[in-house]
Amino acid sequence: MSNSKEELAIETVGLVKHFGENRAVDGVDLSVKKGTIYGVLGPNGAGKTTTIRMLTTLLKADAGKAKVLGFDVSKDADQVRQRISLTGQFASLDEDLSGMENMVMIGRLLGFTRKEAKQRGQELLTAFDLQDAAKRQVKNYSGGMRRRLDIAASIIVSPEILFLDEPTTGLDPRSRNQVWDIIRLLVDAGTTVLLTTQYLDEADQLADRIAVIDHGKVIAEGTSSELKASVGSGKLHVRVLDPEARDDAAQILKGALEVDVQLGSDPLVITAQVSDHKHVARALTDLASANITITDFSLGQPSLDEVFLTLTGKPVEDQVKEAEGNV
Ligand SMILES: Nc1ncnc2c1ncn2[C@@H]1O[C@H](COP(=O)(O)OP(=O)(O)O)[C@@H](O)[C@H]1O
Ligand SMILES: [Mg+2]
Repeated sequence: MSNSKEELAIETVGLVKHFGENRAVDGVDLSVKKGTIYGVLGPNGAGKTTTIRMLTTLLKADAGKAKVLGFDVSKDADQVRQRISLTGQFASLDEDLSGMENMVMIGRLLGFTRKEAKQRGQELLTAFDLQDAAKRQVKNYSGGMRRRLDIAASIIVSPEILFLDEPTTGLDPRSRNQVWDIIRLLVDAGTTVLLTTQYLDEADQLADRIAVIDHGKVIAEGTSSELKASVGSGKLHVRVLDPEARDDAAQILKGALEVDVQLGSDPLVITAQVSDHKHVARALTDLASANITITDFSLGQPSLDEVFLTLTGKPVEDQVKEAEGNV
């Protein structure tokens, strides 16, 4: 094995799983470097959970290969299981027990003494801001608290790899942010995280690299910036001081940016989809040389929604509805 291979926490080649005629995972290649956050982004029904279930040895692949920390998920399943942790839609928390009782129970299952399990439970409940709810039954927790407890329970022993299946689906913005902070802390401490998400901004915020998955296939892969670059660099807004100067300004921008520009209903505003940031500086210089005064200027990043639309030709919302319709 080469050095670069040893740096990979997860590697899959041509991974396939079908359920009858449905090719849920249809030849997925992934390379996840150790110590990074990898985002698998796709709508409902794209094949995210099925991929995670194969990587965590819960489901056997029909074809292809998958290695986790260098171990083959089918041949060395035990080795893989010892090194990973999975949290997701089917958590093993006991609803009737309190947060602390759950932590102690899982700690005991992992071989901790009662005292050690309690101590670790205390540490994690405090770290995840659940100390006040430690004695409350989990069935009375909010969605956000539950999700945090779920992650806490899965890192009682620090895993080398943590699989998070849609860790923030259904959470309010504040709980989402808390979960994001937890994930960042874990990665700072050396854990590799593979997370699935339907949220474009979540992948954008957290992931070092992103695989966009649709109908069981990876349709794009790269950093968030690379994916964004595939739909252009963003939208330029320019506001001129004098409405009479707008037409001239539009001509100058068109020439400098080498793209079409749009004149909005606001008589002072011009917008353009920029293909290359380098052109923007020239556009501004050209406007200044023509003595056109600008009162406002902004260059926005394209959203990952736009990326998805460009890649699939459909907005994300439609894909979700379509997938739900198939169930
Ligand atoms: N156990 C199963 N039996 C039959 N079909 C399944 C099963 N699990 C998932 N599927 C189907 O496989 C496809 C991918 O599902 P899944 O991996 O759960 O997608 P995601 O997690 O991205 O929403 C869907 O069409 C789903 O209906
Ligand atoms: Mg899923």
